[in-house]
Amino acid sequence: MNTALQPAARATKLLAAMSLTDKLALLTGVDPAGALGVTDGPIYVGYVPGNPQLCLPALTLNDGPAGVGDTQVGTTAFPAPIAQAATWDPQLQQAFGQALGLEAWQKGINVVLAPDVNIARVPENGRNFEAFGEDPFLSGQTAVAEIEGIQQNPVIATVKHFAVNSQETNRYYVSSNVDDRTLHEIYLPPFEAAVRQGHVGAVMCAYGLVNATFSCQNQPLLTTVLRQQFGFPGIVMSDWGATWSTVASANAGLDLSMPVGTFFGPALASAVTSGAVSTQTIDGMARSIVTTMFRLGLFDRPPPPRDSAVSADVSSLADQRVALRLAEESTVLLKNTSGTLPLNLGAGASIAVIGAPAGFGDVTPYIGGRGSAFVNPTDPVTPLQALTARAAKAGETVVSADGSDPTAAAAVAAHATVAVVFAYDHEQEGRDRTTLALSAGQDQLIEQVAQANPRTIVVLDTGGPVLMPWVDQVGAVVEAWYPGQRDGDAIAAILFGDVNPSGRLPQTFPTSDASVPASTPDQWPGSNDAQDAEFTEGLQVGYRWYDRQKIAPLFPFGYGLSYTQFSYSHLRVFRTGSRVSVTFTVKNTGSRSGAEVAQLYVDDPIVAGEPPKQLEGYQRLFLRPRRSARVTITLTQRSFADWNSATSKWAVTPGLYRILVGSSSRDIRLRGFLRQR
Ligand code: BGC
Repeated sequence: MNTALQPAARATKLLAAMSLTDKLALLTGVDPAGALGVTDGPIYVGYVPGNPQLCLPALTLNDGPAGVGDTQVGTTAFPAPIAQAATWDPQLQQAFGQALGLEAWQKGINVVLAPDVNIARVPENGRNFEAFGEDPFLSGQTAVAEIEGIQQNPVIATVKHFAVNSQETNRYYVSSNVDDRTLHEIYLPPFEAAVRQGHVGAVMCAYGLVNATFSCQNQPLLTTVLRQQFGFPGIVMSDWGATWSTVASANAGLDLSMPVGTFFGPALASAVTSGAVSTQTIDGMARSIVTTMFRLGLFDRPPPPRDSAVSADVSSLADQRVALRLAEESTVLLKNTSGTLPLNLGAGASIAVIGAPAGFGDVTPYIGGRGSAFVNPTDPVTPLQALTARAAKAGETVVSADGSDPTAAAAVAAHATVAVVFAYDHEQEGRDRTTLALSAGQDQLIEQVAQANPRTIVVLDTGGPVLMPWVDQVGAVVEAWYPGQRDGDAIAAILFGDVNPSGRLPQTFPTSDASVPASTPDQWPGSNDAQDAEFTEGLQVGYRWYDRQKIAPLFPFGYGLSYTQFSYSHLRVFRTGSRVSVTFTVKNTGSRSGAEVAQLYVDDPIVAGEPPKQLEGYQRLFLRPRRSARVTITLTQRSFADWNSATSKWAVTPGLYRILVGSSSRDIRLRGFLRQR
């Protein structure tokens, strides 16, 4: 407990004082309720007992990606991760991480099971809402910011699920069969960023297999990539029930098996006795865990015990403000026929608010996705409540219909000045969606309302892309994602123009189920009854595929409208040592303040065999009307490099690279060049 010593030195002293039994106890979870004698009420989702004689604190583990969830109460339900990514705002994401880590700690938790950085290969994935979309760079940067925030507290962040965890169909047994280059260029970079830039404390290995080996006993992934290539010194823990062996897992690099010790515990003790697992390996496993605990302050700043924390309300006003800002900044304005939004109706006007997510019945399914990332909201504000209050301020009134009867809803809409229809999809861990279409009756509801009132606005509470057969019939479409507990406040601010929308799609919205990259059954859900998912699309994931195939999406990656306009000019590309600086000017040419997300894509020379363009930088900037700002984005050699599977190294192909700067992946405003030798 000498805090003057470095974490590694403290770990060495502690390990010297530990018996083999002490060490083995650290390598597996136990049932939290049983260990703590809890018969009801909230409880952590994972628990590794401490050892008071060794001053070793227990590990108390809990989800997750949208706030402190599982059974916990009195915490903030933040917007879903797909929404977090849609802000393209690392500063805000860091504030979210900080709030999440603090709430966790106040609830007695010292390991947070977030963020989830699995790439959205398949938009039907039931956990699409739970991660940061389809681009490795955006996912990595969003994760780094969150991890930095979480770990400002004495709390370990856990990046998950390592690796290639892309679907829920047959999730425990599906093998993701993916080539080495695609693995390194698409699926691994967010984990690498979490390790190298974010200094994440823990990595959770995934359900399922990668190239026919279970992730949690996958030597190439856990040892070659994670330990050797990325230099990860922290904790490798299994997903809940993702350990399938004793010897193979321990020797491949798994440190901690969760939630209980079916394969570790006594089985691991026997493996040590037989010599199948060496005592050095056990020492290494225990060292990863205790060094990380020392480094992140778990020994020195223990959280409050469960008894005093379990019913505490830790959802502070500051945290709720972060939840509100995330919901506001993540909202993407997809369509806005002249003048539909912002609402400027004048006294006496009426707004028809329609659809279940507006606030009819149980609203919790519409503010967060289901499964381990679900968070019980504290005092959720519904759109109906917030719009009614905001309309009253403007001398306007709200009428409403729950939308269960489209004809009745259309009748309400017909007499209103405008209609706002709220629609949703249902995303849930453990089950993929079978179609991107909205569920039964919702398309019909929107179409009937739009027929009754030409000024119809659709608000989508979805965890990912949905199909919009009615898009040409409505005046405006707003993607609000799963917006968390400040749902109503955020959407009222956006619709009334108190906040100018600035969210950008972190994922392509396709025009049909058939036009997605993984469109054959062998790709998804996989051949042999979803035993083998063939990643034959290779690098062509998300916009990389739509660009290569020249397929027009419904809405492209990086896209989002504003109530103002921005112009781009004066691009310069120049070298500064081993780095490349790209500078340009962005100007707000409209009449409202607003934020633009300037995006930088690199187009490699054809011989490199890369997709047509790839995101390598971005900058969100807020500008008042007629103001401009000079933006600088710095690229490294890695921004131009491809993974060479023969040498297992990154290398830059000589040739001419195009630097593309714009407002979305399909709205490039400036072009520059850089020659690499
Ligand atoms: C999920 C993880 C989660 C764990 C604990 C698993 O089913 O895949 O993301 O952290 O449960 O709740």
